[in-house]
Amino acid sequence: MDSLIQYSYVVAAALFIYGLKLLGSPATARRGNMISAVGMLLAVVAALLAQGIEYQWVALGILVGAVIGGAAARMVQMTAMPEMVALFNGFGGMASLLVGWAALVPGSATFTLVTIILSILIGGVTFTGSMIAYGKLSERIGSGAVLFSGQQIVNSLIVLGILAGAVMFCLQPDNHLWLYLVVVLSLVFGVMAVIPIGGADMPVVISLLNSYSGLAACAAGFAVNNNILIVAGALVGASGIILTQIMCKAMNRSLANVLFSGFGSGKVEQTAVEGEIKPINVEDAYYILEAASNVAIIPGYGMAVAQAQHVVKELAELLEKNGAEVNFGIHPVAGRMPGHMNVLLAEADVPYDQLLEMDDINPRMENVDVAIVIGANDVVNPAARENEGSPIYGMPVINVDKARTVFVLKRSMASGFAGIENPLFYKDNTRMLFGDAKESIGNLIREFSG
Ligand code: TAP
Repeated sequence: MDSLIQYSYVVAAALFIYGLKLLGSPATARRGNMISAVGMLLAVVAALLAQGIEYQWVALGILVGAVIGGAAARMVQMTAMPEMVALFNGFGGMASLLVGWAALVPGSATFTLVTIILSILIGGVTFTGSMIAYGKLSERIGSGAVLFSGQQIVNSLIVLGILAGAVMFCLQPDNHLWLYLVVVLSLVFGVMAVIPIGGADMPVVISLLNSYSGLAACAAGFAVNNNILIVAGALVGASGIILTQIMCKAMNRSLANVLFSGFGSGKVEQTAVEGEIKPINVEDAYYILEAASNVAIIPGYGMAVAQAQHVVKELAELLEKNGAEVNFGIHPVAGRMPGHMNVLLAEADVPYDQLLEMDDINPRMENVDVAIVIGANDVVNPAARENEGSPIYGMPVINVDKARTVFVLKRSMASGFAGIENPLFYKDNTRMLFGDAKESIGNLIREFSG
């Protein structure tokens, strides 16, 4: 039976890895998700074949977990998905903490003790860190960076306390006080690590915590001697850190800068803007679009809020029918979660070959007649290129201002997530089409349809 279980684990691990590979492209992502899920089912069934399991507790856990998880996933708005991921990461961390703790039996070998304390430490930090990230993203707590004098010293003392507690625990495993000390300090450290980070950086933090939750699971896998938990944990740990790196690169920031700079702590230096706002009405916008032969659509968070993806696709089809080439420019951190725009546009059946990444659309921008910015703000802010004092200076953006004409569809002059002014709105070639994005596009479609 044991070999059967181990062989199943190998197959499950192969399915995880193949599934992850397929997740790399929108065209195969669904299949990748399905294949990984089958791998997980196989892993769970194989794990349950082990001896000495009290099935009533497992059944109860599955029932309670499935009801809560199913209901939460059904009820959550698409735009609140990152918060939900934060919660799931946090619970994953707590599960690893508890599994590590439960693996402690009198007479455990030193290696086991080390893996137990690691799963408790990383799991604890992941749990409270994720809860704070959840609170900040959902704006249940203030999303600003919390900084105070002496913060570094307090944090250093906590880390020292954790290290001392961990070493003492491995030396005196029967004295549970050391264990309790590490549990409490890890939970406190999770809070302390995330409060100095501003809300705008939460997606990066969540991706990093996702990586931690994998490492915690990996450590717990060693603690309970379960190979598939080790493999799955390592995969989550590695993919989380890769995603974190991609996001940092997209914002032109280092991970250290995200974690320690207090970005978004209120010291925002506004760009001095020149020029004036030039609103445009739907009819005039239609005449310009009708004459355009090359159109770029740049969606942002506002498209998600307005749920405008279906009308956007309809408008793109009408423009193509009118003879224009239409492409979508996708910024890696547009919206509020990685791949946010891809998910919405895929839902509306926009062909994948029309979705161009930032680096592919930027060189074409000078040939674009009209760039239509739909509820995007920070990701098209030229201050990132032009104003060294701007908090987003150096972040790569989609250069819509290089197009002949820019239409910006938003409801007001309000700023985006980073809370900064956008000089794009004041440029000579920019026209503001004020209103809810779905309504404005609906009106344009009506003009096209006569
Ligand atoms: P934002 O800069 O947040 O701007 C979104 C704009 O959409 C707002 O200025 C808002 O203006 C407009 N809007 C909202 N509802 C609308 C509606 N119903 N109709 C029309 N417009 C609407 O979005 P972005 O350009 O996508 O940039 C994303 C920002 O979020 C970046 O700063 C990024 O770092 C950060 N972030 C990214 C992620 C990931 S991983 N994607 C996660 C969290 C945060 P009005 O209120 O005037 O309409």
